[in-house]
Amino acid sequence: MTLQIGTHTLENRLFVAPMAGVTDRPFRMLCRELGAGYAVSEMVTSRKELWNTLKTSRRANHDGEPGPIAVQIAGTDAAMMAEAAVYNIERGAQIIDINMGCPAKKVCNKWAGSALMRDEPLALEIVQAVVDAAQPHRVPVTLKMRTGWSEDHRNAVKLARDFESAGVQMLTVHGRTREQGYKGHAEYDTIAAVKAAVRVPVVANGDIRSPEKARDVLAVTGADAVMIGRAAQGRPWIFREIAHFLDTGTHLAPPLVAEVRRLLLDHLVEHYALYGEFSGVRTARKHIGWYVRALPDGEAFRARMNAIEDCAGQLRAVDDYFQGLADRMDRMPAPTADEEPSGEEETACAVD
Ligand SMILES: Cc1cc2nc3c(=O)[nH]c(=O)nc-3n(C[C@H](O)[C@H](O)[C@H](O)COP(=O)(O)O)c2cc1C
Repeated sequence: MTLQIGTHTLENRLFVAPMAGVTDRPFRMLCRELGAGYAVSEMVTSRKELWNTLKTSRRANHDGEPGPIAVQIAGTDAAMMAEAAVYNIERGAQIIDINMGCPAKKVCNKWAGSALMRDEPLALEIVQAVVDAAQPHRVPVTLKMRTGWSEDHRNAVKLARDFESAGVQMLTVHGRTREQGYKGHAEYDTIAAVKAAVRVPVVANGDIRSPEKARDVLAVTGADAVMIGRAAQGRPWIFREIAHFLDTGTHLAPPLVAEVRRLLLDHLVEHYALYGEFSGVRTARKHIGWYVRALPDGEAFRARMNAIEDCAGQLRAVDDYFQGLADRMDRMPAPTADEEPSGEEETACAVD
């Protein structure tokens, strides 16, 4: 089943979540190759003075990426957000996504991300300004939010209706409140209520870590798609596993160790090409750590690998580790159903 955002037809209903510091272009392209139908870029700040920084220009790099190119913007000022939308459209964005999902820290003494859900007039002002700015370019605007501000203020349904009236063309809901951060469990009743309240496509997000969970969340929410974040870290093939399960009701065998070795080495080469040697080697460590976390001697390997400071050495170490693993096992181990996601969330959403 396909899904439409404006004039863009998405390949399937399995989306990669935007994760600052994780879903850069190499990672998004890998997930797309491995079965994700759509990937939203890492958030780009609406603060103009930061647009020329290396970090923002890397985030705005979409070379060779399959479309539609979706860029997420974050900020607290309607005019600045409108300008950020146009800036990104002029640099290739085909869809603009507004971030009201991150439990972000304060920016310029104002709250951004999901904190905007507390200030409904401002949230709506921002959405209207971004829609109005994107409309002349025929670029659809989508939005990602949480279920509400706090347990007593679950206003996602009201906001969803308002945002739809303002012209937003797809809504993603992470089944937690802002107050929860990443603690507790995602709930799906509010997502189901949002889906029932609007006509635009709704995407369910939060704690989806297996094909069965994806099937169940789609069923209980009636959502048009699911979005997966942490479970794809070090396991980008989760998308093809879910796609296969949704199509056939059967499980795809875990990937061959030899395939993962190839995937990871290719991922690293693309990663270094984007970040250069110094940053590339350092920022690659977390990805490598995620790939090996549940593997034999994975922790020991990770500790050794963290001391390596050059690309060639890091590639060699990864290659040797996976060669050794391939001698012991053909396929990657199947993940345990309730494997906990990684705990990098707190620093995850810094807007700049
Ligand atoms: C490291 C990290 C960075 C994130 N950065 C963003 C972001 O830039 N924008 C956003 O809307 N959400 C961001 N999120 C939230 C995710 O998109 C997603 O809503 C959340 O992780 C729940 O989905 P999951 O349980 O599948 O991981 C981030 C999450 C993590 C773990």
